Amino acid sequence: MGRMSGKIAFVTGAARGQGRAHALRLAAEGADIIATDIAGPIDTVRYPAAGPPDLAETVRGVEALDRRGVSFAADVRDLDALTSGLDKAVAELGGLDVVVANAGILNAVARSWELDAADWQTMIDINLSGVWHTTKAAVPHLIRRGPGGSVVLISSIAGLRGVPGIAHYNAAKHGVTGLARTLANELAEQRIRVNSVHPTNVRTTMIDNPVSARIYRPDLPEPTFDDAIPALARMHIWDEPYVEVEDVANAVLFLAGDESRYITGIALPVDLGMTAKYTGS
Ligand SMILES: NC(=O)c1ccc[n+]([C@@H]2O[C@H](COP(=O)([O-])OP(=O)(O)OC[C@H]3O[C@@H](n4cnc5c(N)ncnc54)[C@H](O)[C@@H]3O)[C@@H](O)[C@H]2O)c1
Repeated sequence: MGRMSGKIAFVTGAARGQGRAHALRLAAEGADIIATDIAGPIDTVRYPAAGPPDLAETVRGVEALDRRGVSFAADVRDLDALTSGLDKAVAELGGLDVVVANAGILNAVARSWELDAADWQTMIDINLSGVWHTTKAAVPHLIRRGPGGSVVLISSIAGLRGVPGIAHYNAAKHGVTGLARTLANELAEQRIRVNSVHPTNVRTTMIDNPVSARIYRPDLPEPTFDDAIPALARMHIWDEPYVEVEDVANAVLFLAGDESRYITGIALPVDLGMTAKYTGS
């Protein structure tokens, strides 16, 4: 018996990176998976996009673990597409117990007053409103299935701290933290738990690209990810620059399953000690 046996989990942004890791970790513990992703390019995002083969690969991985996997392509900005895709998938698999709102982007890096309005808007539309859309589409299914259930919203250390150069990302991720806290209160009666997860740097396409490297090396005109590594490591209590997708997936698994049955409304960092680091002299 796995820790997620008999559960059905919905993961957004599941085509690659952390979303795929969450889907596979939950499936390895017995969950059936509903995976969604835009699986295509996004205006304002300047690093390579995931595609339909990536989403199909996630489903293949779930099936290789002997679990059922259903996928549909949807943009989390499109509430109707997200809702109808999820409704169909839930009807096919028979219910919904867990939601992992993970889809997200990083676009421009600039001081807040120099950010382009389109970069700001796309960020808020995806990283904040997209998370709300995900909960709006999913919560009625959780309530129908309940009592019980778990919602995990993927925020960031940028949802707990200010990070210069990405005010739009910071604002969206702080918004996600607030959304989780409110939902935890609203869904207490149904015994549905809602928590947020706050990863530090995770080596995925989102940060392993020249645009994102500028957050950490604004002194260089065209920094590479390797240029950023010493600065990434200095953020943490340990001299290590990033965590792996599996480290975040393990935190998601804990919050998704019954081992955390009395935990709701928390903001769980997976951050190499970043938020606790003493930076005084
Ligand atoms: N990588 C990091 O250092 C880091 C750190 C903290 C938090 N996060 C957060 O973790 C989450 C996952 O990011 P990742 O590191 O795996 O990046 P990633 O770029 O590898 O994966 C993100 C996935 O989300 C999908 N996506 C993006 N916009 C979408 C939309 N509008 N609709 C549907 N799907 C969409 C992408 O297609 C992609 O498959 C994001 O919310 C991100 O903000 C990342």
